[in-house]
Parts: sequence; structure tokens; C-alpha cells
Amino acid sequence: MSSSSFLFGAATSSHQVEGNNIHNDWWAFEQTHPGFPKSGLACDHWNRWREDLVLAKQLGHTAHRFSLEWSRIEPKEGQFNRAVIEHYREVLLELKRLNMKSFVTLHHFTNPQWFALQDGWLNGEAPDKFVRYVKYVAQQLAGLVDFWVTINEPNVYASQSYFWGKWPPMKKSSWQTAVVFHHMITAHRLSYRAIHSAVPSSKVGIAQSVIADVPARQGFMSDLLAVHFSGYRYNHYFLRASKGHHDFIGLNYYFARCRQLTLWPLRLKTLPIGGPVSDMGWTIFPKGLTQVLIDFRQYKKPLYVTENGIADADDSKRADFIRAHLKAVEAAQAQGADVRGYLHWSLLDNFEWADGFKPRFGLIEVDYATQARHIRPSAYVYKAIIEQSRNV
Ligand code: BGC
Repeated sequence: MSSSSFLFGAATSSHQVEGNNIHNDWWAFEQTHPGFPKSGLACDHWNRWREDLVLAKQLGHTAHRFSLEWSRIEPKEGQFNRAVIEHYREVLLELKRLNMKSFVTLHHFTNPQWFALQDGWLNGEAPDKFVRYVKYVAQQLAGLVDFWVTINEPNVYASQSYFWGKWPPMKKSSWQTAVVFHHMITAHRLSYRAIHSAVPSSKVGIAQSVIADVPARQGFMSDLLAVHFSGYRYNHYFLRASKGHHDFIGLNYYFARCRQLTLWPLRLKTLPIGGPVSDMGWTIFPKGLTQVLIDFRQYKKPLYVTENGIADADDSKRADFIRAHLKAVEAAQAQGADVRGYLHWSLLDNFEWADGFKPRFGLIEVDYATQARHIRPSAYVYKAIIEQSRNV
């Protein structure tokens, strides 16, 4: 990496690791939909967070990303739970003690049940309700957070929950998807201002899900047009609509896709890109990370890879995956992208939403029967890269 201050670490999110998040909409959904995976105790990280952070430190991490569970902090509308804030304060103090930078996500796919019952992000008052929580948290945790991530992947949340109908509340409506997305843009802008008014020097951004689009056929203008159009819609729309409200940009990168536009009949196609795949069937394509980082130079803001990882239960591909993606980051830096950190997804195996506990994304394996942690060999490979890079 081009600087010894480059941050290395891993990321998690509350509902995926904490366990017993009984006040959120996912939990409610899990109980009422037979066959839908149940998060249950997850990794019991709510109780085991200290030992998990110590493991991250032992693995050489210099930063850690996690999310606050809104439904724990505000289980009833307007009523904030002080004990929960104290819990997160302890986590942040421990990170400081371990000399690790913190990335704190305020919304990672889950909502309090009371909020969901009021139509969730479709409600015109949703941004204000979210910002009331953000203000409270920003005041309570002032000075302890290094990087605030207001919303994780608004494009994924809006489309999975309101377009594809795969996540609660399982709607399938283009109109609702657009409304939710725009309310999240407003919520981000308001949160940016609220956090800055609590602590003016705060660094605030989002974690944007990005896909590297490549043309299916060389030399076809229509495919290039398709690539451009898809990139604008998926990667850039939110950022452009919230321009002036980002101190840094977080990018979550997992895969690439081929785009093809045929004019007669008029059809935009997504084709597989080919090559080795993860346990999720996602093609491993490190070059795509370089491509998006270079593309994001246009914002002239520091860039952080806030997620990048692989479901790989037998850990046969993860080490190469990490090596190749860090090389891809270096290649982007060499071409002028101001990339300042890389957070692997994930520190621990965890609850992979509608796919349950089967996919294994962790640098650390979790035995869900005993909650024992086992460090995977690839985590040591990552550690060696971190140490080497910090000694340069
Ligand atoms: C999400 C994570 C998820 C990961 C792997 C990202 O889109 O932020 O919550 O576990 O992808 O699917």
C-alpha cells in the first residue's frame, strides 16, 4: 500500500453477529415466516465482543467496522435505552485502547419494529425519525467515533426489500423502491448535518455497494452505453444526489457483471463474466475493484473499501482472494485513486440474511453449536500482508 497509515481491518453488522435482536423488523419477520432463516443467537457477539476484538487485534487489524442496532437503542419510539449506548461506548473505548480506528454504521438493513409498523422507509417522516436517533447517538458517542457510515448500501436495501421482494417487508414495486431510496438520500443528508453539528470535525460517509460493469462484447457502442447507464444508476446515483454531504466514500465491492444492450429487440442483458466463483456463486474478479476505485476518483474524496470478501467454507480461496484484491487496490492507488483503507467482510462467520448461516464469510470460523471461534489460515495470510505493509 502506498502509505503506512493505510487502515486494514474487517467489518461486521449488528443483526448478523450480535444475536437476540428481538426488537427489529428482521427478527419479527423471522418468527412469522416459516422456512425463513432465524438469526437466533447469531455469533453471540453482544456478549463476546471483547474477545472478538482482541482476536482482530491479534490478527494485525488497525481498524474495525461494526453497526449500531437502532432497535436496541430506540426499542420504543422516542425512548432511548441508556444501557445499550453504554454497551457501544464500551466497544468504542476498547477499540481506542487497542489502537484501532472505528467505522460505525448507523443503519445496516434492520429497522426497529415500531418504525416498520409505520410503513418503514416509505413513510414521509422516515428521514426525520431516523435523524432523531442519529442525533441522540452522535451526542452520546461524540468524540469516540473515527468514521461514521450513515447507511449501509441503500441501493441494496431498497431493491432487495421493495423491488425483488426478498427481504422484509418483501414488496415488489418500482415506485416504492424509488420512494424508499429517496427517503434514504434525505436521511443521509440530514444525518450528515446532525453529526457535524454534534462534532464539527466528524468524518461522515456511506457504504456504497458497487458493481464493476464490463461490456459483454468488445467494440460495441451499445454495450458501452449499457455499462455507462448501469454504473450511473447503481454505483453513482445516491452519491450524486447527496453531493456535498460526504467526507469520505466507503465502497463495498463483491463482484462484476457483463452488460449487453441489443437494439432489436431492445434488451439490456446481464451475462456472467466467467471464471472461478465463491460458495455464493459470485465470480471472483479483482480487476473490477481497480476499475471502480479509479472511477470513484471523480469525487475527489478519500476512499475506503468498507467491505470486500468471499463465502468460502473450506477456506481454499480466501487467501488468494485477499491477496488479489489488495493488489487491485494498489493498482488503483498507482493510478491516482486516494484509497486509504480496506475492511474485509467479515471478521466472523455470520447470519447472511435470507441465506441464513450457511455461507461462511469469516476470517474467523464460528462453531454455532458451541460459539467457539477458530481462526482460519487465510486470516494469518492477511495478517502477514498487513505487517509487511506497515513495515514498508
Ligand atoms: C452486506 C452484508 C452482507 C455481504 C455479503 C453486503 O452487501 O452489507 O451485510 O453480509 O454483502 O453478502
